[in-house]
Amino acid sequence: MCGIVGYVGNKSVMDILVDGLEQLEYRGYDSSGVAVMCEDEIKVYKAIGKLNNLREELLKHKGEYEKSTMGIGHIRWATHGAPTVLNAHPHTCTCGNLVIVHNGIIENYKELREQLSKEGCVFRSQTDTEVVAHLVAKMYAKTKDLPKAVREATKQIDGAYALCVMHNDCKNTLVLTKRNAPLLVGIGENEFFAASDVPAIIKHTKKAMYLNDNQVVVLTPEKMILTDIEGNEISPKIELLPWEPVALSKMGYKHYMLKEIHEQPDVIRNILVGKLHAPDENIILNEVKLTKETLKNLNRIQIIACGTSLHAAMIGKYIIESFCGIAVDVEASSEYIYRKTVTDKHTLVIGVSQSGETADTLTAIKQAKAKGSHILIITNRPDSAMAREADSLVPVNAGIEVSVAATKSYTAQLMAFYLLGLYMAEIKESVPVAELNSYKAEMMLLPQKIEQILAHTEDIQKCARVYSSTKDFIFVARGINFPTALEGALKLKEISYINATGYPAGELKHGPIAMLDETMPVLSILMKGCVYEKLLSNSEEAKARNARMIALTNSKSEKLEDLFDNIIRVPEVQELFSPLVAIVPLQLLAYYIAEFLGKDVDQPRNLAKSVTVE
Ligand code: AGP
Repeated sequence: MCGIVGYVGNKSVMDILVDGLEQLEYRGYDSSGVAVMCEDEIKVYKAIGKLNNLREELLKHKGEYEKSTMGIGHIRWATHGAPTVLNAHPHTCTCGNLVIVHNGIIENYKELREQLSKEGCVFRSQTDTEVVAHLVAKMYAKTKDLPKAVREATKQIDGAYALCVMHNDCKNTLVLTKRNAPLLVGIGENEFFAASDVPAIIKHTKKAMYLNDNQVVVLTPEKMILTDIEGNEISPKIELLPWEPVALSKMGYKHYMLKEIHEQPDVIRNILVGKLHAPDENIILNEVKLTKETLKNLNRIQIIACGTSLHAAMIGKYIIESFCGIAVDVEASSEYIYRKTVTDKHTLVIGVSQSGETADTLTAIKQAKAKGSHILIITNRPDSAMAREADSLVPVNAGIEVSVAATKSYTAQLMAFYLLGLYMAEIKESVPVAELNSYKAEMMLLPQKIEQILAHTEDIQKCARVYSSTKDFIFVARGINFPTALEGALKLKEISYINATGYPAGELKHGPIAMLDETMPVLSILMKGCVYEKLLSNSEEAKARNARMIALTNSKSEKLEDLFDNIIRVPEVQELFSPLVAIVPLQLLAYYIAEFLGKDVDQPRNLAKSVTVE
């Protein structure tokens, strides 16, 4: 949520900043701004809306900043204050000498603002961030030492922040710090980059240092000095970033979402590499650090996640309960953290997150960790804050996901649950070996089955055209595909803004059936297995109320044509694995409807890729 980029070195800074912001645009995109050190002073440029508006603004001032080699930039997802130019970052202190960009939320900003106003600071925005500019400036006035001023100011701040600070007095210096929000330093030849996420800098360098909470780093073209909050020097831990710049290209697809949907067969192959070699061989999950003894004695698992990851977690419950017979509770992280959760060292707590940054999930796992639970994290970002909290880490290897709508990371999370479930079943000996082997054989066939769906999207595109003018949409399913219905509905609403809902089909008659008439599309996820016939009956109930009926099915039965107006067929698959083949047409349906409606598919309104505020 929000993006930060910074640079100090010997190259022209503006292209680096704007290009970096473009790579972070998926994180928030309601306004943007940059501050650059020009010959005589820092100059700030801002614009509301998409980054192109900032580009246009910058064109008007080209002569002013061309020679500048140091600056900071920010792309915003509004929390405090509407998306206006005044609220856009960077923010300045009263005299304009000090400039900052900030990700996160300053919780005690009201008290600080009141106090600083009394002391004569002039506030120009409604943001929480502006108090930090005034506070650091106040400390700088006392100390005349920018890093010290930053350290002293952050001691007075409650909340989460990643900060990048510049001052007119320090012509070649950037000061960075963070708490509960990600920030990293990219290391080049006589140059340093600052970024809240890897995509902003990966083009320039793969060498980087992640800041830990309360560390402060001072960057000049020649060197980087890292200290703790008291100013004691620390030696930096430099690592190689596991990303390739090519991952950030659309590779000929119109949108990242479509490219990412099409990457799913390879994502499944990648996650299986090194973990499953053959159906009759054991699953290898070296990253899981639970001992055999602990695994055998586990009697409860809690899974916590948000959004799409929560839907993957709900399917994870079916998988683990079927394979291992252990009771699993699933909960939205935002609910988990505000009640008295019962968890202890006998409970395994699994956090699921594409970004590994989601504030609610991070807080939830920290709470569970404090109560002694073993924390297992399933994430697409082994370099994330959540991964750093993990006792066991299952990286999902989906590659960077740029589109705000999660697709390939969801498939990868499901695969992680299948692997984990099978791995635990092998240890617990809770499933006969022949049955386990048949599951593993099925998993190895999944990429081909998904390829078949991706190769024939005509029926899905037809449905998208037929239903794109609907105002509401209902997805129904039962059993392991109930979460698929929720995820199908989430995909549709987040990118097309159609009011879509997912229900367990058996619940239709307990209320939602009242909404059905000839205008309402009902999509039944009819996968062969124990709930197939039941769901067919529920679909009949909807048909009897004149709803527009769509089937997503792996049944070849021609009888379905009497009941359904449109049918999307997918390859046959064992019921337990059907969520993997069922979700792909639903992602595509959402994509084609949104595209047909001309929506901004990769950057839907009001959303951001990673939600780093609670
Ligand atoms: C999915 O399409 C979303 N945009 C969103 O629900 C997302 O899944 C959620 O914010 C959780 O993010 P995470 O997986 O990075 O924790």
